[in-house]
Amino acid sequence: MRQATVYIDSTALQYNLNRVKQLAPTAKIVSMVKANAYGHGVKDCLAALKDSDAFGVACLQEALEIRELGYQQPITLIEGIFSADEMQIVINQNIEVVVHHQAQLDWLLAHKDAYITKGLKVWVKLNSGMNRLGFKIDVIKQVINQLKAEGFTCVLAMHFANADADHPLNEEQVQQFLEVKNDCAPLMGSCCNSAAIYKYPELHFDFVRPGIMLYGATPFADKTIHDLDLKPVMTFTAEVIALNHIKAGEHVGYGSTFTADQDMTLAIVSIGYGDGYPRAFPKQNYVAINGQQTRVIGRVAMDMIAIDATDLNLQLGTEVELWGKTRLVDDVAEANGTIGYELLCRMSARPVRKLV
Ligand SMILES: Cc1ncc(COP(=O)(O)O)c(C=O)c1O
Repeated sequence: MRQATVYIDSTALQYNLNRVKQLAPTAKIVSMVKANAYGHGVKDCLAALKDSDAFGVACLQEALEIRELGYQQPITLIEGIFSADEMQIVINQNIEVVVHHQAQLDWLLAHKDAYITKGLKVWVKLNSGMNRLGFKIDVIKQVINQLKAEGFTCVLAMHFANADADHPLNEEQVQQFLEVKNDCAPLMGSCCNSAAIYKYPELHFDFVRPGIMLYGATPFADKTIHDLDLKPVMTFTAEVIALNHIKAGEHVGYGSTFTADQDMTLAIVSIGYGDGYPRAFPKQNYVAINGQQTRVIGRVAMDMIAIDATDLNLQLGTEVELWGKTRLVDDVAEANGTIGYELLCRMSARPVRKLV
């Protein structure tokens, strides 16, 4: 049987959740499990993350999946609801909404009593310069004051555009957040994703919203998970299914983009973009075998790649790590011109998933 496998390490997930607790001991933790827990499989991840105070997802479907799996923690819809008819479902299922535009506010106010009676908080989103979602600073204070006057419990929510970098907008976003929080006091607040949890300990406030750090990938371009003391959760492996000896001058794979400059041994590994392994690779990419890295040769195909097996004692069936503990997903992403987030989220359904 074809052995393309995604191992999910629940101990690593718990370790990373504990890292959040260490870094933000006074804040409640909203574990971000959107996009199928960043591609890791929401069912397995919820079990490992059950000590989270709450969960964050991008849409109602994702929230309902959590409820169907039996978890009762608060859930925040970080983009709120998408149409008025979702409001009743949200209330029935005890799901909390973000409001980021006037229509969402109207839908919420139309269900005011039921929402408040259920003890649900409203997350009011500030657009402090990222310019995706949210009320601008000149509008949001009035929105919050109105909601508070109606009896809602509000959380001021904000998202950094550059938490992973030094950028002048960071300071501006912080100032706007603090101004609203002070002017509408008392008011709960939440503005920290993974990068901001590390970078801004003074801004943890009531709720932190870790995503990528839970899964053991880095939010920073210049810091590895070892620097951040995180453990990789996903290990993605496949097996050697053929060994070929080629002569100098021979080509490998689609487009014949690789030409051997010496006689060499190739191992063909049963993995490809049909499994979620990326194809582009503007830079040289590597895989790991027993802790040792070797280069990927030629183009990634839908179901197969070739790797350099010269001087390596590989057999049919040898397990190859595409990413995991030796070859970090962040390094594969860097070679591919992207970020770990994307590679993790775009895993296909084909590899077998195993919880370890
Ligand atoms: C509103 C919000 N909060 C928190 C997060 C988690 O971010 P990260 O995965 O960088 O920790 C996200 C992710 O995109 C988000 O959209």
